[in-house]
Amino acid sequence: MNMKLITSFDEYQKQYEFSVDNPETFWADVAENFQWRKKWSRVLEWDFHKPEVHWFIGGKLNITENCLDRHLPARANQTAIIWEPNNPADASQHITYQQLFNHVCRVANMLKAQGIKKGDRVCIYMPMIPEVAYAMLACARIGAVHSVVFAGFSAGSLIDRINDAGCKLVLTTDGAYRGDKIIDLKSIIDEALEKCPTVERVLVAKRTHSKVKMKPGRDLWWEEEIRNVSDVCVAEEMDAEDLLFILYTSGSTGKPKGMVHTCGGYMVYTSYTFKTAFQYQDGQVYWCTADVGWITGHSYIVYGPLSAGAITLMFEGVPSWPDMGRFWHVAEKHRVNIFYTAPTAIRSLEKAPLSFVRQYDLHSIKVLGTVGEPINEEAWHWYHDNIGRGECPVVDTWWQTETGGFMISPIAHVTKLKPAHASFPLPGVQPAIMDENGNELLANGVEGRLAIRFPWPAMARTIYGDHQRFKDTYFSTFPGKYFTGDGCKRDEEGFYRITGRVDDIIIVSGHNMGTAEIESAIDEHSAVCESAVVAYPHDIKGQGVYAYVICYDKPHEEEKLRKEIRELVAKIIGPIAKPDKIQFVSGLPKTRSGKIMRRILRKVAEGDTSNLGDVTTLLDPAVVDEIKSGAL
Ligand code: PRX
Repeated sequence: MNMKLITSFDEYQKQYEFSVDNPETFWADVAENFQWRKKWSRVLEWDFHKPEVHWFIGGKLNITENCLDRHLPARANQTAIIWEPNNPADASQHITYQQLFNHVCRVANMLKAQGIKKGDRVCIYMPMIPEVAYAMLACARIGAVHSVVFAGFSAGSLIDRINDAGCKLVLTTDGAYRGDKIIDLKSIIDEALEKCPTVERVLVAKRTHSKVKMKPGRDLWWEEEIRNVSDVCVAEEMDAEDLLFILYTSGSTGKPKGMVHTCGGYMVYTSYTFKTAFQYQDGQVYWCTADVGWITGHSYIVYGPLSAGAITLMFEGVPSWPDMGRFWHVAEKHRVNIFYTAPTAIRSLEKAPLSFVRQYDLHSIKVLGTVGEPINEEAWHWYHDNIGRGECPVVDTWWQTETGGFMISPIAHVTKLKPAHASFPLPGVQPAIMDENGNELLANGVEGRLAIRFPWPAMARTIYGDHQRFKDTYFSTFPGKYFTGDGCKRDEEGFYRITGRVDDIIIVSGHNMGTAEIESAIDEHSAVCESAVVAYPHDIKGQGVYAYVICYDKPHEEEKLRKEIRELVAKIIGPIAKPDKIQFVSGLPKTRSGKIMRRILRKVAEGDTSNLGDVTTLLDPAVVDEIKSGAL
C-alpha cells in the first residue's frame, strides 16, 4: 500500500482540515489504496437520526484479498504472523503471507464442506494460536460472519452470544494454556451448547491434547477435516456494506450488544489508522498484546496490520508467567519495533522489580501504544522512561468496540506528547464535547461528554437484531450525534483527555462490563435478594468491582458466601467479572421512586464518606450510615 504517511504536525493539521471540509474526497482517496472487485458509486450516505450509515456504496470486495492475495506478488515469503507460544520453552512460529493464504483457504474450504455459506454466523471460541486468525479470515473469505467470544468467558456468556447471533457452527480447541493453567475450553462449549439450538457443528482443534468428549454427529476434529480440503479458495464477492463480523460488548443495561461491523469501511479505516497512528514502516515487527476476543485484537492484530502488509506478533501467554519479564523477553526475542498494550498490564509490570525489564535489550522498540482505559500519569511515565528509554512516543489510542478503529490518538513522532492525553482526533474524526443540556462546548478548556458529529468508515452500523437499541444507546442522548458514553476534557491547547465512562459500564483490567450484568449474576444466588455493583479505584486493574449485597437472611458465614458469590459470577459471566469486594447490607439507598442512588454507593466504595451530598430524597436515609460503617 502506498498510503502517504503524515510526517509533520503541520501536515496533520492540513490533512485534518481537509478531511473535515471534504470527508468524501478524503476517504475515497484512502480507499483507492485497496483492491476492490468493483468500485463504489457513492462514498457516503448517512443520517444520524435514523440512524443509518453507508460507506462506499455499491463497492465490491473481499477483505481477505486485501489482507492476503494482494500481498503475494511482493510479500509471499515475508512473515505475516509471528506466533509466540505460552511456554517460552516451545518453539515460536513465523507464518509467511503465502502460508497464511494457504492456511486460511484450507479453513475456508473446511467451513464450506460443513455447509457454511455467505451470511451464516460462526462462533469462534479459541485461544491465541495462529488458527484463531485463520478462522476469522476464513469466515471473511467465504462471507460468513464471525462472532469471536473471548476464551475467558464462561458458558453463560457463550449461550447469550451464540443464541443472539444464531450461530450455526463453533470453532474451538480442546483446551487453552494460560500461564501455568490449562482451561478446558471444550467442556465449557459442551455446557453452553446444551442451550444453543442453532449450533449444528463444532470443529475442535487440538492444542492442549486434553481428554475431551466428542458428541457424535456434532463434533469433528479440525485436524482430520482439514486434511481433505484444498489450500486454494476463491474469495466470495462482498458488498462494502455486507456484514464482516459481530462482536459483543457490555451494555449498561440488559444483555451484551452485538456490534455489527461491515466489510469496506472497516477495512479502509483499520488499515489507515494502523499505518497513521503508529507510523508503521514496511518490515517492522508490530506487537499488540490484546486477545483477539476483543475489538483491539480484531482491528489491530488481524485486519489492520494484515491489510497493511505488516508483520504482526500474536502472543498466547500472559505477562506474568513464567515471570514478570515475559513481555520484555518476547520483545527482545522478536526484535519488536512497535509495542501496544493496556494500562492495566503496564501498572502490574510497574510493580515488579526493574531488573525484569533491564535484563532485556529493548532498543528495537521505536513506538509504544496504550489502549482500553485512561492511563494514569505515573504509569505513562514508567512506560515512557523504562520501556521507551524516554525516547519512544506513547501513542494513547482512544476508541471503542463501536468505533471499530482509533478515533483520538497521537501520531507517533508527529504529535507533541502530553502524558495521559489521547491528544487529537485523527483525520476524518469530528469530536464534540457536550454539556449536560446537550449544547456543544466549542471553546478550549472545557469538560463534558464526548460525542462524534460525523460518520467515519469503521463505525458499527447497528446492534445485531436490535436497531432500536442502537438508536437509543448511541443516538438519542444528543440527537444527530453519536454519543460515546465517555467523559472528556479539552485543554487550553486543544488536547483531548478521556476521563472515563459516564454510564453504568465499568472497565476492569481494560475489559468493559455492565454493572447490571454482574448484578443479575449475583442475584442468581439463592441467598441473595438484591445487589448493586459499582466501581472503585484499583491500583492495577484501574477499576475494581464493589458489590453491595442484600440477603434474605443475615449471612452466618460471610466469607463462605462471598466465595460462593464470586464463583457464581465467574461461572455465569467469566472470572474477569468476579467482585473484588462484597459488602453485605440490609438495604440500598433508594429514592422514593425506587431508583438506587449509585452516586452514594460509588463514594463509599471509593472510601470517601465525608461528603455524600444530598441524601434527603432517600426513602430511608438510615441505610447510608449502615453502608458507611460497614465499608470495606
Ligand atoms: O471508556 C473508554 C475506554 O474503553 C471504552 C471502550 O471499551 P471497548 O469497547 O472494550 O474497547 C476497548 C478497546 C478499544 C471507551 O469508551 N478507553 C478505550 N481506550 C481508551 C479509553 N479510555 C481512555 N483512554 C483510552 N486510550
